[in-house]
Amino acid sequence: MTASKQKTVLVTGCSSGFGYLIALTFISNGWNVYGTVRDVARENAQKLLKKGVKILKMDLSKPETIVAAISQINTGTLDVLVNNAGVGFLEPVEDFSEQDIHYQFEVNFFGVHRIIKEILPMMRKQGHGRIINISSLAAISTTALYGIYSATKSALEAMSEALNLEVSRWNISVSLVEPGSFATNFGMNAKLPDSAIKDSSYAKLIAYNAKVRSNLDQKRSSLDVFRNPQRVANLVYKIACANKPKFRYKIGIDAFFTSLAVKLVPYQLRLAILKWVYRW
Ligand SMILES: NC(=O)c1ccc[n+]([C@@H]2O[C@H](COP(=O)([O-])OP(=O)(O)OC[C@H]3O[C@@H](n4cnc5c(N)ncnc54)[C@H](OP(=O)(O)O)[C@@H]3O)[C@@H](O)[C@H]2O)c1
Repeated sequence: MTASKQKTVLVTGCSSGFGYLIALTFISNGWNVYGTVRDVARENAQKLLKKGVKILKMDLSKPETIVAAISQINTGTLDVLVNNAGVGFLEPVEDFSEQDIHYQFEVNFFGVHRIIKEILPMMRKQGHGRIINISSLAAISTTALYGIYSATKSALEAMSEALNLEVSRWNISVSLVEPGSFATNFGMNAKLPDSAIKDSSYAKLIAYNAKVRSNLDQKRSSLDVFRNPQRVANLVYKIACANKPKFRYKIGIDAFFTSLAVKLVPYQLRLAILKWVYRW
């Protein structure tokens, strides 16, 4: 890529997981990369800095940090925005505190909306742009403990669909990426019910979920070939470079089979299967 044609991308949540790999993928392909983190001192932030990524401090739950970070983009143009940062709180719907619901929506929905509002004037002015929102398999189909996380991603999907139509007039497109389960820090960072929730009416579901997660961790090495997060980074890069990007991209074996099941298996049957699986 020649200097005059160098494109610019902004990636949120680069301190770990998909975001870190997405930023690395773009910079190694010659893009001008802005990456946001909450803590600039983090090892991955420092590694990206050394590679030439311009690190911006942003906490999606703090609107003033979004405005401050985006005001530092001094290229005049922004070709691609990747809304990647996100959190997962996994609890039964009844047990959720309102505070935790609000926080999760702040990060996964309102924060994304604020960033989009900040960058759209620039994209409209330049007459092109691409917004890639990292959604989840959880927006296609949910299960026990995932209700509120799924709600945030479903809200993100609805907003993205309307936005894609609204901004098409300025040659701006919106795409969704719906990953299944990939080996990032997401599971480790997910806020899980603490031991105080032993008294929960849903303790059996919580214990089942904990068992599945620990099995997944133990089998990690054998599954990692399918759950390699670099696949998601490569897909995001492909979308950024596509002539005509699609609106929705699924990635991961579980995302593929779940979306097939949602289409082919009636809801009552899926419910009965899940109840059997959870012994619930
Ligand atoms: N891994 C999966 O299986 C999977 C599947 C489907 C969808 N996703 C989605 O993929 C995206 C990336 O997740 P990941 O798997 O890469 O997990 P991850 O390794 O936990 O990375 C999440 C990133 O989001 C950032 N973040 C969290 N809260 C934030 C806040 N308040 N403000 C700014 N940044 C914040 C984190 O920063 P800190 O390091 O500062 O916490 C981190 O950089 C998320 O939107 C997630 O919902 C993941």
